[in-house]
This record gives sequence, structure tokens and C-alpha cells, in this order.
Amino acid sequence: MSSEVRRAAQILRAGGLVAFPTETVYGLGADASSEKAVARLYAVKRRPADHPVIVHFASAESAFDWAAEIPEAARELAKKFWPGPLTLILKRSALAKDFVTGGQPSVGLRVPSHPVAQQLLKEFGGAVAAPSANRFGQVSPTTAAHVRADLGKDVDLVLEGGQSEVGIESTIVDLSGGGAVLLRPGAITRAQIEALVPVSDENSSVRHSGGLERHYAPRTPARLIPTHALDREIAKGKTSVAVLAFSRPDERVDFWLRMPRDPQGYAQRLYAALRELDSAGCECILVEAPPEAPEWAAVRDRLVRACKA
Ligand code: TXA
Ligand code: MG
Repeated sequence: MSSEVRRAAQILRAGGLVAFPTETVYGLGADASSEKAVARLYAVKRRPADHPVIVHFASAESAFDWAAEIPEAARELAKKFWPGPLTLILKRSALAKDFVTGGQPSVGLRVPSHPVAQQLLKEFGGAVAAPSANRFGQVSPTTAAHVRADLGKDVDLVLEGGQSEVGIESTIVDLSGGGAVLLRPGAITRAQIEALVPVSDENSSVRHSGGLERHYAPRTPARLIPTHALDREIAKGKTSVAVLAFSRPDERVDFWLRMPRDPQGYAQRLYAALRELDSAGCECILVEAPPEAPEWAAVRDRLVRACKA
């Protein structure tokens, strides 16, 4: 256990904010049992108070204390995927107060696998409320440097943990209403969940910010372009564009980032790429649409939201 982690746990106990690495993206953590700490978290995030936040734990046993009912499906998914990039929405116990659930009768629970997150959660001993460590609606951070650039002095400590391995936020499965509903696609695919429990698509009216249309968005206007139309868009040459694509750079374009052709590699690189494109200072970002195949669902979801006007 490093002295940084011990200091981080002390800051959490004192009601402060600690940004920490997880395998998905960096989180902005606060003591989930402290109304004051969570209020500060929401203020720094600039997040509306009625949006629930995910609560993080070192183990499934401690996570399930925050649930009133634990369906068999939750136990099976937890056994298979925790610690790891999966969030389960369950009916809340009395430990999950309105100020973390946005007043909803359910709570989002997650057990991250990143070793630094594990150390912090063990040392702190309690539940840590942690949304992604960026301002509301913007691109999530996948390095400690991203967090510092976004939040600056508003966060008491940023724990270093390298580049996030997964690169996009956890898969969210809602088990609070009987069946399993996929609320947010992620690295754990629908097919992997369906191997254990039947899954239906989101139809609930539950508020979750991943469900907002525009999210994970760069400041520069971005557009999703099918592969066959990319050349035509570039040829128009009306505005300065930055391009995110699978193919080799086109000499007519000043700023071009080439992305991996596998969905895991793409996801890992995605948010850093959006930040680079944003800082290129172009008038518009063109993003080559990824394949329609199911293994691209999570990347496609983030790109569609990043490209909403
Ligand atoms: O990978 C992740 O999940 C990252 C890392 C830091 O763990 N966290 C993250 O948190 O993405 P956040 O707050 O940026 O996104 C959490 C999503 C939001 O869309 C939130 O509204 C939803 O989870 N959520 C949390 N509790 C919920 C609940 N009770 N019902 C429905 N959605 C919920
Ligand atoms: Mg977020």
C-alpha cells in the first residue's frame, strides 16, 4: 500500500474528493455515505442533482450490502465479471440514500479491477461514489493528466494509475425491475451477459446521463460519416477538418488520427483521440463510422453521442 493511497483514503474520510484510476476511465470519488461530500462531487462535476451516481466497492459482498434484493442473475453476473467493467443496478438498501441515487429506488453498484482502485477501496473500507472525473457531458478521462487538465484544483488528489486499459465506461445492466436491461453498452458485451441471463434493451424511463443524447462530446462539432462518404466530405474542402478514421492519412487533411481496426484497441484509444482532435483547432471533426457488428456496439454508442449536434 503506497502512502499516496493512504493519503487518498484519509481525504475521502474527511469528505474530500479523490480522482482515481479504474480499468474503464478515471473516476472522481467521494464518500458515498456523506451527503456533504457527494454534494461537493456534484458541484465539481456540474452534474444535475437528479442524476444518480455509481457506487464503488472493493468486493461483491460489500457492494450487495447496498442492495435490498439480490436476484440470482446479479450473483451470477457478479461472480463472472467482478472485479471488472460491469455496473449492476439493483433495488437499494437503506445504505443508499437519495443523494447518491438521485431519489430513485435503485442504486448502481460496481467493483473495479484496477489495482490502485482496489487498494483505495480496501484502505477506505466504505463505499465510494464515483462518476467519470470530467465535467458533465464532456469526454471522460483515461489518464491522470486528463483529470488534472479537466478539474485542476477542484480535486484534492489525483492518484496515478497509467492509461485506462478498457478506455470507455462500464457496461450497465439494470436488474432492479425483474429482467435484465442493458442500459449502457461497454467492454463486457451483450453476448457475454446473455450467456448468463436473458437481456432486453433499454425501455425504462430511468434517468441516466449515458442515456442523454449528447454526451462524451468534444467541444468542436463532430460528425459521423459512413466510410463510402468520407472521401466526398473531405473533397468538399470547405472547412478545416480533423479526421478520425481507419485508413491512412489523406494529404488534403491537416490533422488525421488513424484508429485500430479491433473494437478493444479502438475503445482504449478513443477518448484520448477525441481530446487530440479537439485541440487541433479545426472547425469540424469527421469521424469514420465503425462497423455495424455487435462487437462494435459500445464504441458506436459513444461515437453517436459525441457526434450529436
Ligand atoms: O466505468 C464507469 O462506470 C465509470 C468509472 C469511474 O467507474 N463511472 C461512470 O460513472 O461512468 P458516471 O456517473 O459517469 O456514469 C454512471 C451512469 C450514469 O449514466 C448514471 O446515471 C447511471 O450510471 N446510473 C447510476 N445509478 C443508476 C440507477 N440507479 N439507475 C439508472 N442508472 C444509474
Ligand atoms: Mg461520465
